[in-house]
Amino acid sequence: VTTALDLGRVETPAAVVDRDRMEANARRVVAYCAEHGLHWRPHIKTHKSRRIARLQLDLGARGLTVATPHEAEVMSSVTDDLLLAYPPVGEARLERVLGLPGSVDLKVALDSTAVLAPLAAGARAAGRSVGVLVEVDVGLRRVGVQGVDEAIRLAEAVAAADGVDYRGILFYAGHIRGTGPAEDEGIARLSGDVAAMRDGLAAAGLEPGIVSGGTTPTLWRSHEIEGLTEVRAGTCIFNDRDALAVGAAREQDLAYSVLATVVSTAVAGRAAVDAGSKALAKEPRGGRGTFGRLLDRPDVEVVALSEEHGMLDLEGTDWRPSVGDRVRIVPNHVCVSVNLQDRLLLEGADGDVEAVALEGRGRLSGAPEAGR
Ligand SMILES: Cc1ncc(COP(=O)(O)O)c(C=O)c1O
Repeated sequence: VTTALDLGRVETPAAVVDRDRMEANARRVVAYCAEHGLHWRPHIKTHKSRRIARLQLDLGARGLTVATPHEAEVMSSVTDDLLLAYPPVGEARLERVLGLPGSVDLKVALDSTAVLAPLAAGARAAGRSVGVLVEVDVGLRRVGVQGVDEAIRLAEAVAAADGVDYRGILFYAGHIRGTGPAEDEGIARLSGDVAAMRDGLAAAGLEPGIVSGGTTPTLWRSHEIEGLTEVRAGTCIFNDRDALAVGAAREQDLAYSVLATVVSTAVAGRAAVDAGSKALAKEPRGGRGTFGRLLDRPDVEVVALSEEHGMLDLEGTDWRPSVGDRVRIVPNHVCVSVNLQDRLLLEGADGDVEAVALEGRGRLSGAPEAGR
């Protein structure tokens, strides 16, 4: 919906997306994947928006990745090719996942028979077949079967069960960040581990059709992971300070910022803005233990956060803002900042602004009392 939104007058804090940069980011990923025979299945947790998911698909993404039942429900109206990269544990979650439209080719990642058995039983009862990717731990130590033997055992159980369909493997190498010798080694080890996993499964007659991986920090090295078929990178649609810090994005790839207003300059050496932890999220990752930086003044950082106040450090700059001035802040981690917003304001190069809904936010569909 295009309305006469004026970023000079809109109430702050407000989340602003540079539309050209966002589209350029998407095009780059699609081109990279095409060059290397990979598919891009973006994780939509970053934007949670149908509008942006459609853009990704229109530009060449193959299906979408989601984490929550609500995201799955919302995105099922955008694509029939969905991957739930989260174990559907518990009746409430499972019921919603199995209640997705029958037209959806649903794939689910899991790492145990404790998750598999109710999923298969529920799928049979619902009269549908659910694709399963065996999730493998490649070093993050979060979820995932441990090693080839366990993967084979679980894949055999999937292949033997009715109601589910063995489709391949999935991993999330969130522990590999940055560039440098440690990352080179990490990627080489990952590639070796994935190849061994694939060979082991193939020898057992369980060759994975899908090998799903790929994060934003490792995005541009995905082709070094032997046998990978799809990349789930999501953050790359907007990028953030973390993506910049690990060398996965350049300044001109920063598409997201929080528009904020200076509300006080009373304290020497600082300026208070109206973007606090409820707009930026308090993630001291990346950077130097600070929470954000100005888009056009990288040396001006957010050094402290209250819920509705962000404190800019002016010690290292000659810039002296006045009360009422507007600034754009790049957060450390964009996905959690987006999750705090009511909408995104997509700004075109010609100055037009489009308000975009974040339909995938929250956990419930419909009225609160409908919550299962
Ligand atoms: C399972 C899974 N896949 C894909 C992604 C996307 O990775 P990134 O945020 O680095 O783009 C994430 C991010 O947390 C994830 O948890």
